[in-house]
Amino acid sequence: MPILFDEKQKIFKLDTKTSTYAILIYQENYLVHLYYGARLPDCNLKPLMYRGRFDSLSPYNPKVEDPLFSPDISPMEYSTNGAGDFRISAFSVQGAAGNTVTDLRYVSHKIYNGKPKLPGLPATFAKEGEAQTLELETLDAVTGVKVFLLYTVFENYGVMARSVRVENQGDSPVMLQRVYSACVDLPAMDYEMVHLYGRWNKENSLACHPLMHGIQSIRSKRGMTSANHNPFVALKSPHCSEESGEAYGFHLVYSGNFAIDIECDTREFSRLLLGINPEDFCWKLEPGEAFVSPEAILVYSQEGLGGMSRTLHKFYPEHLMRSEWAKKKRPLLINSWEAAYFNFDDDKLVEFAEKAKELGIELLVMDDGWFGNRNDDHRALGDWYVNEKKLKGGLSSLIKRVNDLGVQFGIWYEPEMINPDSDLYRAHPDWAIRAPGREHSLSRYQCVLDMTRQEVRDNIFRQMYDVISQNNIAYIKWDCNRHITEAASVALPPDRQGEFFHRYVLGVYDLMDRITTAFPHILLENCSSGGGRFDPGMLYYSPQIWASDNTDPIERLSIQFGASLCYPISSMGAHVSANPRAGLATKAAVAMCGTFGYELDPRKMTEEEKEAVKAQVAQYHRDYDLIRSGDFYRLVSPAENSFHCEWEFVSTDKREVLLTSVIMRQPPHNFYIQKLAGLDPDLYYRDEDTGEVYSGALLMHGGVNLSGENWPISRGDGHSLTKRFLALSRQP
Ligand code: DGJ
Repeated sequence: MPILFDEKQKIFKLDTKTSTYAILIYQENYLVHLYYGARLPDCNLKPLMYRGRFDSLSPYNPKVEDPLFSPDISPMEYSTNGAGDFRISAFSVQGAAGNTVTDLRYVSHKIYNGKPKLPGLPATFAKEGEAQTLELETLDAVTGVKVFLLYTVFENYGVMARSVRVENQGDSPVMLQRVYSACVDLPAMDYEMVHLYGRWNKENSLACHPLMHGIQSIRSKRGMTSANHNPFVALKSPHCSEESGEAYGFHLVYSGNFAIDIECDTREFSRLLLGINPEDFCWKLEPGEAFVSPEAILVYSQEGLGGMSRTLHKFYPEHLMRSEWAKKKRPLLINSWEAAYFNFDDDKLVEFAEKAKELGIELLVMDDGWFGNRNDDHRALGDWYVNEKKLKGGLSSLIKRVNDLGVQFGIWYEPEMINPDSDLYRAHPDWAIRAPGREHSLSRYQCVLDMTRQEVRDNIFRQMYDVISQNNIAYIKWDCNRHITEAASVALPPDRQGEFFHRYVLGVYDLMDRITTAFPHILLENCSSGGGRFDPGMLYYSPQIWASDNTDPIERLSIQFGASLCYPISSMGAHVSANPRAGLATKAAVAMCGTFGYELDPRKMTEEEKEAVKAQVAQYHRDYDLIRSGDFYRLVSPAENSFHCEWEFVSTDKREVLLTSVIMRQPPHNFYIQKLAGLDPDLYYRDEDTGEVYSGALLMHGGVNLSGENWPISRGDGHSLTKRFLALSRQP
């Protein structure tokens, strides 16, 4: 059983195949965090709660008969505000008395098989026998607020999912000030914090720095997760590398204002919290009402950051991405955006489809510009009816012409947005988010719709439903191109305005749920000015997310390497475009380390380019399974080497290997040996280009010699090499 409760010691032990997590019910029913790390046998974990004699300034509870216990020093399982723990608190509630003192104590617990759903929120799921859950009931005696701490153990993956449910069982309304999804107190002051930051066109830059005393934090208050910070942090131990050493990953299944805060105290311990950003958050809970936090994913690896990433790469398609497309072969698509922007009509799109078909492309996506009077980005968001001046004969006729060519059809939407110059705005100006009496900001000439309101969501759903249900649509791109300012809802009373941001996210999830439930066979791809809402919440609904508007293959290396830290390769939207930085081969090699597709004008290709694309399409089909379900190894990171970048896919049976090397900048030498990873040392592998046979042990410990002609350095910047190694059925 992955979850055990030792009645005598009052210790919960939660085991995955690689990790153990332990909690103690201590005197006066304090919940103390004992351990999170490598899997342990049953043993005496209790001494881990002590952190030395506490200072005379540290508060203590006189009822606790232990001079070494103070809520300010001891590792607390779910920290609260103002009752003896001066470090950052995971939970704080303002009761009828007006103060925010909060003190949660253990009441009871349940252990059960399976994984509960989180109402209204994306969350991991499990079939019978795949997970077990511990639910700890805690109580703040003064307000009557109960907090249920939920831990689901996915034993086979080294993963735990955590969330909290708050119930107001008192008789007065309370205001929730902070409700983090998880709190973890770790002896990790000497660890480094790894996270992903960025901006439009440069998402997922990897940052790694030592923890410092005090509070460090990554957050969003933009309404969306944003490209600025991803809701993910890894903590890596002093000697942790890509393939060895201890790494913890913390990922929030949420698409709105989030916070991941780490406080390092003077005893060299680190408390990590992740959850809804408490800034601009306050939730009124009436007696009898409940509030559920988003889910936090915790992963532990002893195989470095690479092992952590591979666990998440395998875990998410099985337990988070609910679309039938999570594991199904996706159609190879071409997108009209970079090829045509707003400048297209039905004939041009049919020509795209015709040419694409000749190349082996399976689906045409009609991007922005097909609706209302949308001929540029100044107008028409909200008017989701077909522009028949552009698509003469209407959408059905266009789709029929495309389908008759044997090509499927996809369509673009930006459902959360409205332009002041739109019919929808003229009919419902109050549907755009704004704070009464204040000037309101525009961004890309648009406003955000108040998704907290049911009638707004109903309108957009109805408009989308009418188009989608009447047409043979195989794919939807859901875009989102601005953040929220002047946040307020005219539909909420003043004492509930603090709920706005979270209600917005719940509204988006509701609409996404309705669309994906009404059209379960449609492949949904999320997008937010590139990868501006690339988060696990979105992955729940859409198995792929456009990674960046930057289609320069060299820039893409760091964007995709960064995203691979915590997202499956199969989830990263990546296209070959007309970007001049590198040739078609390198653009394809990089896009193949993602969903793979095209975003260029297929009518403008030379015969030679067409032949190259046909070969790429064949390679895409040949390597599809290896890339989608193999193990991914980041061999040489573009963030750490300024000349070249290497990565590798290894099939789960270790018999197939795909190595890619990209020259970002020509190095001053032409010799290079690359050690491979994850092979079977006892197998022999044939280099499919040269016919040379190597032992797996040699390839891993000695490496493959890429020097000279083998390596494309002599051909200069932007060149690449992809090598396949296949295991021999018998030893040579
Ligand atoms: C931003 C997206 O990232 C692009 O791919 C494209 O869909 C445009 N929006 C369309 O406006």
